[in-house]
Amino acid sequence: MNRREILDLLFRMPWPELRAAAQQQRRAAVGRHVFVRGLLEFSNLCRRNCRYCGLRRANRPLRRYCLSRSAILAAARQAAAAGVDTLVLQSGEWERPPHWLAAIIRQVKAELGLAVTLSVGEMPRDHYACWREAGADRFLLRHETADATLYARLHPGHHLTERLRALEWLAELGYEVGSGFLVGVPGQRPTSLADDILLVRRLGVAMCGVGPFIPQAATPLALAPHGDVPMTLRVLAVLRLVLPTAHLPATTALASLSPDDGQRQGLLAGANVLMPSFTPAACRAAYRIYDNKAQVSLAAARRAITSAGLRHRLPAVLPSGDSAHV
Ligand code: 5AD
Ligand code: SF4
Repeated sequence: MNRREILDLLFRMPWPELRAAAQQQRRAAVGRHVFVRGLLEFSNLCRRNCRYCGLRRANRPLRRYCLSRSAILAAARQAAAAGVDTLVLQSGEWERPPHWLAAIIRQVKAELGLAVTLSVGEMPRDHYACWREAGADRFLLRHETADATLYARLHPGHHLTERLRALEWLAELGYEVGSGFLVGVPGQRPTSLADDILLVRRLGVAMCGVGPFIPQAATPLALAPHGDVPMTLRVLAVLRLVLPTAHLPATTALASLSPDDGQRQGLLAGANVLMPSFTPAACRAAYRIYDNKAQVSLAAARRAITSAGLRHRLPAVLPSGDSAHV
């Protein structure tokens, strides 16, 4: 599929047709199973100043936290008991001695047997190597936008080339690599979404996270309009067609703009991954990358999967209605 054809799918094909094509492709390529990952936002410290994100360094009043090793392990145990297949360890970007995180990865793998995905930003290659050695399986690092000029404007002091180099290192080190991008971030030409899709295809990513931009009050983009939900769903559907076997999450940002059925709509558009949060309640408000962020619980994930007519491998809910974590 070339750029012209991707643009046709994105902007011209009637939605019912596009969605049906994506659903057919999903059935053929990945079936009806939905993977459930446990998301643990273990620190909101960040050295970067991305113009769209509430965790940016310049947001001084934000209370910053970093969970202790024992708090991370406690949350990981909860996620494992709830039946997730993977622990996603996410944080803002800050450089620390890599051994701290390596020890946590080792313990999660040894004690709980979960797959571990890291999402901790751009780091030196030897940090990535150390974590891989410790047993980390996958790494999420969104390219955010394939438009190099816009990338530089949104990320003061940084360039898309550095991001792509980091993604290359991760692949060389044997990580399963995930990228992704924002839909409707201010300054984005709609046609550049086709370049985002072509870029993730060229990178050959195993995962791709796509969500609408949502403004955050403490950022320079506070007053900008949010990204479009229908457009985000169209991008997901086209990604399913272009990367048939990729893991595509229905993102929290999608759920935040459509609290009633964003996740279900994402699944119906071709997504096959949900990432409910296991971040301790006391920290959630401080992980405010954008405003009105939904709390995607395991119970909500389960409902979205069932109501989309799809399957999961979560343990049955106890008769009392209590599952390990709701
Ligand atoms: N709206 C939507 N998504 C955002 N992210 C950061 N800030 C925002 C925002 N305001 C996304 C980025 C990042 C991921 C962790 O969260 O794409 O990679
Ligand atoms: Fe930091 Fe990531 Fe937010 Fe950028 S998007 S400010 S790197 S947490």
